[in-house]
Amino acid sequence: PNSEEQATLEAYQWLSKLYHHLLGHSKDGKKALAYLHERGFSDEVIERFQIGYSPTSKGFVTQFLENKGFHKQVMANAGILTTSDDGEYFDRFQGRVIFPIRNHIGKTIGFNGRTISDQEPKYLNSPESSLFRKSKLLYNFDIARSEIRKKGEVILFEGSADVIAAHQAEVLNGVASLGTSLTETHASLLRRYVDTVLICYDGDNAGQNATYKAIKLLRKVGCTIKVASLPPNYDPDQFIQEYGKEKFQSQVIEAADTEMTFIKRYLKKDFNLNLEGDRLQYVEKVIEEIAILNSTIERDHYLRELAEEFKLSYEALSQELMSRMRNVT
Ligand code: GTP
Ligand code: MN
Ligand code: MN
Ligand code: MN
Ligand code: MN
Repeated sequence: PNSEEQATLEAYQWLSKLYHHLLGHSKDGKKALAYLHERGFSDEVIERFQIGYSPTSKGFVTQFLENKGFHKQVMANAGILTTSDDGEYFDRFQGRVIFPIRNHIGKTIGFNGRTISDQEPKYLNSPESSLFRKSKLLYNFDIARSEIRKKGEVILFEGSADVIAAHQAEVLNGVASLGTSLTETHASLLRRYVDTVLICYDGDNAGQNATYKAIKLLRKVGCTIKVASLPPNYDPDQFIQEYGKEKFQSQVIEAADTEMTFIKRYLKKDFNLNLEGDRLQYVEKVIEEIAILNSTIERDHYLRELAEEFKLSYEALSQELMSRMRNVT
């Protein structure tokens, strides 16, 4: 890193200590701590993930960093400080719970700040920089790495809150992409460590759409994909809070579907299967998806399942599949 990056990294280390200290040791910070407890985060994970709080007081962080010898302009470039209309510097993360973002070797390279009031946006990230590239970074990879290796499997969550809640529920191989959808770079990175990726996104429509997109990317790099399904109004964090860790482990993670089971359920939403025309269109869609599968055994399995489900002849579907596959290659 160049000297400005070096200074930024140092400032981040100091700041994350300060933020963490202020959580629980300042008047506002106590509110933030109560908010985290209310959400079900234990003191143990607050410690492990060094969760913090940035006070609403205007000059506090600026003063702190200046006292440490950091230049305001450098901190502004790093997205720690912003300037108000009257030219004053203030902390960009004011009034937010702070999740330090660590890189693959555990160094803090940015912050993820969540509002505890109704501020917009809900989450504020450090800006993109040479130190912090969202498209390459997976939150929690440093802590999860050994478990990922051990299990040969990584779990992909939507948000840092889900990763931390899962960790608390003793599901330790979780990571998340922050404020961006999964990229090809993320996918190749994961592929270097594991064969299997288990996608555990939110149960809402946005989560399902993102799951479908992630499947397409992960297939390209040759991962085995599993998909955990949550009830529509839940994300992993909420599920754990409401049903506890045993149910999360057994009914969500261990009960994950194969990618094709997810895809079939996902595609079904666009069709009214009581109508003959819709049924046939749906079957064609599914055959397109089967055609992309790499293994002959899998293709045969899902084709038989489809034939059975719609009382269609296996031979006819098989021929359709063959013609699709010729088109693909
Ligand atoms: P909680 O509401 O704290 O439980 O967070 P969540 O992770 O459930 O949030 P949500 O499902 O709404 O969004 C998933 C992820 O998208 C978050 O963890 C963030 O990384 C990102 N995200 C959500 N809202 C915003 C936003 O307003 N701005 C940015 N940059 N990212 C966001
Ligand atoms: Mn502490
Ligand atoms: Mn969501
Ligand atoms: Mn969510
Ligand atoms: Mn959530």
